[in-house]
Amino acid sequence: MSEDDILVTEGLTKSFGDFQAVSDVSIRVKRGAIHALIGPNGAGKTTCFNMLTKFIAPTAGTIRFNGRDITRLRPADVARLGLVRSFQISAVFPHLTALENVRIALQRSRGDSFDFWRSKTALDPLNGRALELLDSVGLTSFAYSRAGEISYGRKRALEIATTLAIEPELMLLDEPMAGMGHEDIDRIAALILRVSANRTILMVEHNLQVVANLSHRITVLTRGRVLAEGDYRTVSENHAVREAYMGAGHG
Ligand SMILES: Nc1ncnc2c1ncn2[C@@H]1O[C@H](COP(=O)(O)OP(=O)(O)OP(=O)(O)O)[C@@H](O)[C@H]1O
Ligand SMILES: [Mg+2]
Repeated sequence: MSEDDILVTEGLTKSFGDFQAVSDVSIRVKRGAIHALIGPNGAGKTTCFNMLTKFIAPTAGTIRFNGRDITRLRPADVARLGLVRSFQISAVFPHLTALENVRIALQRSRGDSFDFWRSKTALDPLNGRALELLDSVGLTSFAYSRAGEISYGRKRALEIATTLAIEPELMLLDEPMAGMGHEDIDRIAALILRVSANRTILMVEHNLQVVANLSHRITVLTRGRVLAEGDYRTVSENHAVREAYMGAGHG
């Protein structure tokens, strides 16, 4: 493992009964890069993410993060080490304001257990940092709006802010553009680029234009296996990749 690699998987495999959803996947993610994991529906992308964040245990293979074997660690442990997934369900409380949501994330990241009954003033010292985080995702003017009442794209920006509160070294994004219109896509793409400045990003994304614009490196999965890897140009000119996408109806 080179110093430059933040995440390395070797032979990562996941079987569900007789079915192998992920087969022998070896990936190297370079520190500081935006790395995309792409592939047709059912290729095994989310299953890979679930193994990386420890939501499911690999059937075989190893995962190393910053040189450390994390294959057997629990989700909370890998998060504490700096490998954090955004867009997790439950990331945002709809009845609380954007600011309150980020404050709670900050409080959690400091190891205090989240306590709804704690007085609001006890959280005030966190306001400054929370406002900074909201500003970094372009939500300053929505700080006092309820999370449930802002647009879909802004909710995702808020989810990114709550993830940034944990100060992840490696941030995993599963389909950040899913369900978004053009305007939101541009805004979130710019945001991803901005937050990638001092961290590594590994993302699953179906929007190939976004992948082309943002990614330094791309791994293509089909039927659970790595089909190709390289920069966008290399991958998009790959014959097998073109076939896999056309075969899956992606044109
Ligand atoms: N818990 C499970 N039990 C059985 N099969 C599963 C399970 N989870 C995923 N699979 C199967 O594993 C394969 C890979 O699924 P996965 O969700 O990882 O694909 P994906 O690349 O994320 O697809 P998509 O682009 O549609 O999100 C699929 O055939 C899926 O049906
Ligand atoms: Mg998926």
